[in-house]
Parts: sequence; C-alpha cells; structure tokens
Amino acid sequence: MHTQAIILAGGKGTRMKSDKPKVLHEICGKSMLSYVIQNAGDAGIKQIAVIVGYKAEEVKSSIVGQVSTFIQHQQLGTGHAVMQALPFIDDNAYVVILCGDAPLVDSKTIQSLYEYTSSNKKDAVVVSAVLDEPYGYGRIIRDSSDKLIKIVEQKDATEEEKKITEINSGVYCFLGSVLKYALGHIRNDNVQNEYYLTDTIELLIDEKYNIGVLEEVNCDIIKAVNDKKQLAQLEKLMRRRINDFWLEKGVTMMDPDSTYISYDSVLNEDVLLYPGVVIEGRSIIKKNCVVTSGSIIKNSIIGEDSIIQSSYITDSIVGSHVNIGPFAHLRPKSKLADYVRIGNFVEVKNSEIGQNSKSSHLTYIGDAKVGDNVNLGCGVVFVNYDGKNKALTVVEDDCFIGCNVNLIAPVTVKKGAYVAAGSTITFDVEEDSLAIARCRQTNKENWVKNK
Ligand code: UD1
Ligand code: CA
Repeated sequence: MHTQAIILAGGKGTRMKSDKPKVLHEICGKSMLSYVIQNAGDAGIKQIAVIVGYKAEEVKSSIVGQVSTFIQHQQLGTGHAVMQALPFIDDNAYVVILCGDAPLVDSKTIQSLYEYTSSNKKDAVVVSAVLDEPYGYGRIIRDSSDKLIKIVEQKDATEEEKKITEINSGVYCFLGSVLKYALGHIRNDNVQNEYYLTDTIELLIDEKYNIGVLEEVNCDIIKAVNDKKQLAQLEKLMRRRINDFWLEKGVTMMDPDSTYISYDSVLNEDVLLYPGVVIEGRSIIKKNCVVTSGSIIKNSIIGEDSIIQSSYITDSIVGSHVNIGPFAHLRPKSKLADYVRIGNFVEVKNSEIGQNSKSSHLTYIGDAKVGDNVNLGCGVVFVNYDGKNKALTVVEDDCFIGCNVNLIAPVTVKKGAYVAAGSTITFDVEEDSLAIARCRQTNKENWVKNK
C-alpha cells in the first residue's frame, strides 16, 4: 500500500506576533515548512499535499519541488484543514499528517510511523511523547488499563487532564478511507469552535476502529513552534544537530555552542572555526580553512587552506590559500583567485582579482578586473561611480598601484605599469610605463619665519 502526506500550514501563528506566516519562519536558515516537506520526501513519500491559508500565495511560492497545495480560506481548525485535501486522499493509502510548525520530525520517525501502522494493521496511529512541560499541547487520555480513549486540547482540558504529561505530537498516520470517514463526522463544539483533527481519534475509538499510539522517546523531535521562544529553542536543537554532523565529518569547532552553520552549507575536513562564526545560506568552506571570530560568510565558496579573519563575505567566490581580514568586506560578486591577500578595511564589490594579487589595507575595489601579481597600495580607491552610472576599471597583470591612488573609471592600467602614490588616474596607462598624476612638490624656504 502506498503512502501520502498532508502537511498543515494554513495557520497565521498568532502567538508568533509576526506578519510572516508561522511556517515561513526559519530555523538555521531554512523555513520550517521546507524542512517538513523535505522530511516527508526523504521518508520516501511521493504524494505530498500542503494546506495553505494565511498568506497562501506567499507560502505557496516558497515551496520548491513536486507538492500539491490546497487552500483553506478560513482557518477553522486542524480537522478543517485536512478536509481541504479530501480529493487528494486515496482510500487505500496510508496518509501521514504532519504539521508545518514541527520541523524536527525526521524521515526516520515518519517511516517508523507508517511501518508500525501497516505491520500492526492499525486504522490510525498517533505519535505521542512525554514532556516535562506539556503546556499548550493536546493531552493523550488513557483509561485505567492504559488504552487510548481520546485527545484533549489544553484549552478544553480539566485540571486533572492538564496534569497529564503524555502529549499529542500532531503527527498521525491514517488509513485513507478511515480518515475521510472521520473527517465527515467531527464537530466544532469546543472552546475554540474549531474542527479539531484530534477529535477523529475519539470518534474512531468509539466506533471500534483499531487505533494505536506510538510513543516517541526522543521528545525533542516532536516539539512544535508556536512562539518566538520555542523558535529559538528549536533553532538551538537544530544547530546542535548540524554542528554534530560536521564535527563527525572532521570539522574543528572551538565552541560548538557559539558556532552557527546554516542547514544548506557544506564544510570539509580540518576546517577550523573559532567561536562566534556565522555561516549562512548556501556556503561551502573547503579543507583546512580557518575562520576566526566575528566572521559572517553568506552564500559564498571559500577555497582550501584559506584564512578568513573576522570578516564579512557575501555572495562571493574565494580561491585557495587566500588570506582575508581582519575586518574586510567582500560584497556580492567578488571573485578572488588563489593566493590573493585582502587585508584590513578593504572592501571589494563586483570585482575579479587575479592570482597572487594583494590589497593589504584601506582600499575600495568596486566594479574592477584586477590581473595576477598586482599590488594595490594602502588607500587605493577604485572610483567607480559618477553619481549616475557605474563604470569598469581594469588593472592588468603585474601592475603596481601606489598608495592613495584614485582610479577614475572607466580606465585601464595596462600590463606591468606603475602608478605613483597620490596619483589621480583619469586616462589609460600604457604597458610598462609609470604614471604620475600629482603636483610637483615645491618647498618655500623660511616660509614660516617670514609669514
Ligand atoms: C495541535 C494539536 C495538539 C498537538 C499540537 C502538536 C489540534 C486541535 N491540536 O495544536 O493536540 O499537541 O498540535 O504540536 O490539532 N493549521 C491549519 N489550519 C487551521 C489550524 C491550524 O493549517 O485552521 C495548521 C497550522 O498552520 C500548524 C498546524 O496546523 O502548522 C497546527 O496548528 P496549531 O494551531 O499550531 O495547533 P496547536 O494548538 O499547536
Ligand atoms: Ca502548534
């Protein structure tokens, strides 16, 4: 029998106190919903439906891959959300229900749920967990012989029921035909006037269907996000998972508790990360790189054996044996070849810098093509903007640009040329020549005494 998944993602998430739909809030750089979709796919489920509602278009456009979406125009509860997918549900399939706000429910948990359901020939199974702080979750109510009777929501629970620590994870597996039947019979006569998906359980038990509970022992896995505090807690759990993964792959972290690596980044053996490093988006850090405290690397590739000291790098490509910082800034579309040196207070934007070239201090390189073996002295400015347009500066191989030079774009300094310190260059410099563009110095003797 095949398996389908329905992911509930229609709610606003009022307790998040945010305009953004709850399921689009990110954990380690990836939306909660995208984790849930990925986990269902990784569990081998090919037919996936997502129920969208609040800001439906925004949520829909965040989805990549093959999923069906169903719109829940009014958020009338989790049961009502699943009803929107009735045409999707196959009578003869197992249907796994997942919540878009529970991103840590992994593919292994999903797999063991439907395997348990089918091997025990259950009509439905709910995943439970025992939590020290069950507040907010629906409680699993059992009779004196431990048999499941029903699920009671926090808001509808009696004082006695609130003391129960076994909770409903919000993850279920139903036989398709049974789910359809139950959805047709739930009512909204509760404190919130909602159609609770949880009510299907009591209804089915009363009608002698074979319903089970599967307890998840790792209770962190099933935790859901309803507010910013829980978002931070799950971020921490996911961060630990990601860091453990890379530690096992041979990355060294001085302090994993203060190392932040996005879900989609890739690291390699013997990368050394100091405390307080942030690696965001889709970044790749190759072997033997050292990244020191305060560095933020976003959507960038760093080649082998490079050193990044307390610098900010975004949407850029860095070669191997490159030395950056401290306090350098690579803005989008910077491309550094191997053995480049970018020193303190150097900013690079939309520029290519060739092998072995150096800019050791206090320089702005914008919209430039710099060749190999070029030395840019302290304080060089690539003057790329005239107030309206940006223009390109080319500095060919083996050039030497002295300190405090302004290169007014568009301009080319041809191969092997030198530019004297303090020059403002407004037209091209020919190969192997020296350009000096500054006033000759005059000394006025005794000027001070005579003034
Ligand atoms: C739900 C369960 C609760 C369980 C908890 C686990 C119900 C009634 N309660 O409570 O027993 O312990 O999850 O985390 O099912 N959603 C919609 N449309 C709606 C309402 C909700 O799509 O009309 C979606 C939300 O976007 C969310 C998910 O369903 O992703 C769960 O909704 P939420 O309001 O967070 O339910 P809880 O109160 O946490
Ligand atoms: Ca929830």
